[in-house]
Amino acid sequence: MSKTIIISNRLPVQLQISDGGMSAIPSVGGLATGMKSVHDGKNSLWIGWSGLTEEDTPESLVPAIDKALAEQGCAQVSLTKEEVDGFYFGFSNRTIWPLFHYFLEYTEFELSFWETYRQVNQKFADAILAQSGPDDIIWVHDYQLMLVPQMVKEKNPGATIGFFLHIPFPSYEIFRTMPWREEVLQGLLGSDLIGFHTYDYERHFLSSVRRLLSLDVHFNDIYLDNRIIKVDSFPMGIDYKRFHEAAVANDQLKGKERSDLQKKLDDHKASAPGTKLILSIDRLDYSKGIAKRINAFEYFLRKYPEYKEKMRLIILAVPSRSNVPQYMLLKKEIDELVGRINGELSTVNWTPIWYFYRSMPFENLIDLYTSCDIAWLTPLRDGMNLVAKEYIATRTDKTGVLILSEMAGSAYEMNEALLINPNNFEQQADTLKRAFEMPKEEQMARNMFLQKRLERYNVEVWAQEFMSVLKNQKSEEQEQVVT
Ligand code: ADP
Ligand code: F6P
Repeated sequence: MSKTIIISNRLPVQLQISDGGMSAIPSVGGLATGMKSVHDGKNSLWIGWSGLTEEDTPESLVPAIDKALAEQGCAQVSLTKEEVDGFYFGFSNRTIWPLFHYFLEYTEFELSFWETYRQVNQKFADAILAQSGPDDIIWVHDYQLMLVPQMVKEKNPGATIGFFLHIPFPSYEIFRTMPWREEVLQGLLGSDLIGFHTYDYERHFLSSVRRLLSLDVHFNDIYLDNRIIKVDSFPMGIDYKRFHEAAVANDQLKGKERSDLQKKLDDHKASAPGTKLILSIDRLDYSKGIAKRINAFEYFLRKYPEYKEKMRLIILAVPSRSNVPQYMLLKKEIDELVGRINGELSTVNWTPIWYFYRSMPFENLIDLYTSCDIAWLTPLRDGMNLVAKEYIATRTDKTGVLILSEMAGSAYEMNEALLINPNNFEQQADTLKRAFEMPKEEQMARNMFLQKRLERYNVEVWAQEFMSVLKNQKSEEQEQVVT
C-alpha cells in the first residue's frame, strides 16, 4: 500500500535531554501545527530533524529516541552541531529567511552556509530514498529543503514529489541577488508540483524561472526536458474544528476547572468593565513586526489619550532561532521597548503592555484567543499567518475584531478583517480606535463570513487538494510521456 512521506526540517515534536532522560515537546510554527492534523502516523511517515544535535544525544538513548519517534510515525535525520549551525542557523535563517522576507540588509551570502545547506539537503534526500517505496508520494516542505526534490528525482526519476513553500517567494528583483539562485530553482524543479500560499508568490517564482533559467512556461506549467512541472497556489487552512471545539469547551469550564491564566483574564474583565484586551501572538521574529507594533501602540495612546486605562496590549512571543544575531538583538529591543513604555505610561491601576516571552500550551492559547476583544497582527512580511485564522476560529459568539497586516498571506482570504499597513502608524492608531468602538453586530457580521470560509477550507481540505493535484499531475505527465 502506498504511503505519504512528509519531509520537513522540524518534526512535529522536538526532543530535549534533561537529567539523562528524554522528553518531547510539540513544535511551534505554522508548518508543524498545520501538518500535524494531516499526519496520522499510519498511512504517513514524517521525516525530519528532532531538534537535538548528535553531540547532545547520548548514544545509549538513540534506540529509545528512534522507538519513541516511530510510535508517532516519525523518523529522524540526525544532524551534527556543525551541520545545524551552517544549514539551519546559517543558510536557512541568515540567508533565505531574511531574503525571502525582503530584509536584504540582514541577508548574508556566505559560501560555507551554502555548502552545508547542500550537504544537509542531501542527507534528507538520502533518508527519503532509504525510507520510500516506488508507489509512495513524497511531500517536501519549506525553504530549508529546497534542493531535496531534485536530489530525490535524480536517483529515483519515477518518484512522485510535491513541494510546498510556507514562506513568501520574493519578487525576481530580490531573488536574483542570491549567488546560488539557479541551483535553488533547479532544486525545486525536481518536484512534479510546487505549491505556494498565494498567487503572488506563484507569479514571482514563475517569473524567476522564466528569466533565470529561460525555460518554457505556459500559464502555470513549466516544461523541463520531457517533464511538466505544475505550479499552483494553495492557501493553507487551520484545523478549524480543533480550535473551535476547544473554545466551546473552554466556555463551559467553571470555577476551579478554569486555568490560572483564564482566571487572571476573568479577574481582569470583572475588575475593569468596559476595558478591552488586544492580543498579539507570534514567534519572536523581525518579520512579524513586533517592535513596530509596540511603537504603534505607544503612538495610539499618545494620539488618543482617552483610551489609556481602557486598552491593554498582551504580547505573547515564543522564543525562536535565538542563536541568530538578529533575533538576539530583537529580543533586547523588545525588552527595552516594553520596559520604557510601561515605565512611562503605567498608572497605579493600569499597565499598558503585558509581555510573555515563552511557548504556551494549547489550552492557554485558547484562553488568550477567547478572552481578547481584539487581535492585532502586524507582520512586515508573512507567508500566511495562521494565528489570524486561529483567533477567528475560537470566537464562539462571533464577536472580536481582527486587525491584520496586508503583508500577510492570510490577508488575501480575510477581507472582512480590518486590514492595515504595518508601517502606517496613523492608520493603525485610527484602526485601533475603530476596533474599540465597533458595534457587536458589525463584529459578528464580519466574523460570520470569516468563520464559514475557515471551516470550509480547513487544513485537511488544503492537504487533500494539494495531494489530488499532485496525483493528477503525475498521471497526466506519464500519459504525455507515453503518447
Ligand atoms: P510561523 O509559521 O511563522 O511561526 P504562523 O502564524 O503561521 O507563523 O504559525 C504560528 C503557529 O505557532 C500557530 O499555530 C500558533 O498557534 C503557534 N504559536 C505561536 N506562538 C506560540 C506560543 N507562544 N506558544 C505556543 N504556540 C504558539
Ligand atoms: O512557517 C515558516 C517556518 O519556518 C516553518 O518552517 C517552521 O516550522 C516555523 O516557521 C518555525 O520556525 P523554526 O522551525 O525555525 O523554529
